[in-house]
Amino acid sequence: MSSPAIVAKDITVRFRPMVDRNPTLRRSIGRMRHRETQELVALDGVDLTINKGEAFGIIGRNGAGKSTFLRVMARTLKPDEGSVNVYGKTSTLLQLGVGFNVQLSGRRNILLGGLAAGLRKSEIDEKYDSIVEYAGLEYAIDRPVRTYSSGMFSRLAFAVGMALEPNILLLDEVLAVGDESFRNKSMDTMRELLAKAGTIVFVSHALPNVAEFCDRVMWLEAGKVRMIGEASAVVEAYQTAVQEAR
Ligand SMILES: Nc1ncnc2c1ncn2[C@@H]1O[C@H](COP(=O)(O)OP(=O)(O)OP(=O)(O)O)[C@@H](O)[C@H]1O
Ligand SMILES: [Mg+2]
Repeated sequence: MSSPAIVAKDITVRFRPMVDRNPTLRRSIGRMRHRETQELVALDGVDLTINKGEAFGIIGRNGAGKSTFLRVMARTLKPDEGSVNVYGKTSTLLQLGVGFNVQLSGRRNILLGGLAAGLRKSEIDEKYDSIVEYAGLEYAIDRPVRTYSSGMFSRLAFAVGMALEPNILLLDEVLAVGDESFRNKSMDTMRELLAKAGTIVFVSHALPNVAEFCDRVMWLEAGKVRMIGEASAVVEAYQTAVQEAR
């Protein structure tokens, strides 16, 4: 009876190498020799369906394509090939609050982040107190966000993201910097979301958390699906491979 929340078909994303603005002569010659027109394939034909009510983890080494895949699901990045269909209201929390302006206060960023998430100003005003309380940042809310610790920043981003009451939550390492009490609190909120048939996609290097929290996990390697299946089995296989590679 599971119905899909996200259907990604044959997703391929290529990045073109950036041109060095201040190339040294040696590097310029090197580039001419190697004709640096090679594209980087960040995702290579990834097929995936994530169901409603599912907590889905994505793991893999640095540069494997996890964040790129999340951005495709969030529709902030258009794939070069393939299609993605998302069924539900999505809140995306990519590494530490995209859309925030760190020069402004926490208060202003709640407004900015809320508007970026699709809330109306009146809705944000209504939810303002509960967002600040959830984040536990009453004492710092009028300070510029650039003076926040990374944990404070992630509290604010998570609180704003949840205020949208999403059905689908995309998380990229957002909880990694939260302290124990905030992590417990956010985990409880996420379990409530799942209980209401919401969907969570969780990108993290915190493997024990992934194994414990997720139902299924995808292991990406160099832009390809290396393995997909029951959470602890995939995490274990990944850990074994990492150990063998050492
Ligand atoms: N905007 C970009 N321009 C060029 N290359 C990019 C861009 N974004 C990502 N890449 C490249 O795509 C590949 C996948 O990157 P991605 O950020 O998805 O990895 P990741 O699995 O999230 O890694 P990490 O664990 O370090 O967060 C990397 O080789 C990266 O250098
Ligand atoms: Mg990443």
